[in-house]
Amino acid sequence: MAVKILMVCLGNICRSPLAEGILRSKLPKNFIIDSVGTGNWHIGNPPDPRSVKIASEKGIDISNLRGRQFSTQDFINFDCIYVMDNQNHKDVIALATTEAEKSKVKLILDELFPNENVDVPDPYFGLQDGFEKVYDMLDAACNVIADKLLKENSTL
Ligand code: 4NP
Repeated sequence: MAVKILMVCLGNICRSPLAEGILRSKLPKNFIIDSVGTGNWHIGNPPDPRSVKIASEKGIDISNLRGRQFSTQDFINFDCIYVMDNQNHKDVIALATTEAEKSKVKLILDELFPNENVDVPDPYFGLQDGFEKVYDMLDAACNVIADKLLKENSTL
């Protein structure tokens, strides 16, 4: 069975599509990676051009991704749900109905700084350099995540 990982941010146009593209680039095809927003403003929209640009500079094409809003069905469909910041964490946890669902939700930078509750900052109202910083944070976190997933699923 494929391992399924969901990346979550607020709009699903800046951080989580980047996280989706980065993690997908580090794993074989039997790992299913998707991303969503907690908000509904950008349903059906492509990622922010600044995210598309930094990804493209690193050899990753996220231009064909489209915005989707988190749904409670995602608790069932995904094995692990990585949120970008503490507000996303609150918003997703508020929709969980069981401890098993809650336990799937993790702050992505906890992979680098365990239990420090560090946010991936929202770059939406900033400039391109904010997207470059976000890319580097997500790339470092996704290296740790990919290593773990490959070890845990070495028999797949
Ligand atoms: P994201 O950034 O959560 O990283 O996709 C945002 C994009 C759009 C908005 C907020 C955050 N917005 O308010 O439209």
